[in-house]
Amino acid sequence: MNKILDVRACKSSPVDIQADLFRQNVDLRPYELKHSLQSHPLLEIHNLVALAKRLPPIQREYVFAKQEFGTHETGDHYQHATSMDEMSTEEMILNIEAQNRVIVLRNVETDPTYGTLVNDVLDQLQDQIEAVTGPISGRESFIFVSPPRAYTPFHYDPEQNFFLQVRGRKDFAVYDVADRDVMPEVAIENFLTLNRRTPCAPEFFDRYRLFELSPGEGVYVPTTAPHWVRTLDEVSVSISINFRTPSSIRRDRVYRFNRLLRKTGIQPQSVSPRADNARDWLKSEFFATPSRLKQCFKSLLGR
Ligand SMILES: [Fe+2]
Repeated sequence: MNKILDVRACKSSPVDIQADLFRQNVDLRPYELKHSLQSHPLLEIHNLVALAKRLPPIQREYVFAKQEFGTHETGDHYQHATSMDEMSTEEMILNIEAQNRVIVLRNVETDPTYGTLVNDVLDQLQDQIEAVTGPISGRESFIFVSPPRAYTPFHYDPEQNFFLQVRGRKDFAVYDVADRDVMPEVAIENFLTLNRRTPCAPEFFDRYRLFELSPGEGVYVPTTAPHWVRTLDEVSVSISINFRTPSSIRRDRVYRFNRLLRKTGIQPQSVSPRADNARDWLKSEFFATPSRLKQCFKSLLGR
């Protein structure tokens, strides 16, 4: 492989997660990151155009972006590329300045060239991450090409996220993952079990922490921490490096368990921030073993 493209050729990782800050903040709070991927050739427009040609339509997503600030994500904001589109994804990227949409190249780790980049970045961070979290899994990466003044509405995602700004400036607002006014427990359950997102109540919308990102800067976004994103007066390119940790998997299982409890009429206790108290461990273990879960619910329901 060309040495320029091989991040393993670098002595240090292109992403600095600042191990102490990661230890203090993982699962709980966003914090600022530094990286050097803004100079990586694979993130230049001509290479992203070539990538768009290789990715299947389902991995080329358009998010309608010239929306009123303060709106919330709905399914209507999203569209996948199809063969019927008037303009190809490649043409949209080349003319991104004039587009009314953010182009999302999803799961770029499935592409052999970009997969090498994503895996190399995570391989170099793995020891630092796993010393805090335990084994990571579910490696993924999305690349966002955005026009100027594009607003991506309030939403949340299920992964741990190192969000890295590569070109242009971007405002990235993150809400407290534990703020149950902004996102009630039921909203998290609905998201993790049904992929249904709940808008933030207008009176709580201003509770975000704003990260003003320039190329070379980034932000760690905890699992399910709500966020919105806005580009400034220039074209923007960003990449997210995503993964799962034992805590994020446990949290997912506990919320699924709680949803089942709620269906039986039981009001579940709140989930601890890292889903690591005894109650959450127990719920998670039940969900990890479906036959025991089934048995448990049969007895709960008296059947
Ligand atoms: Fe997101």
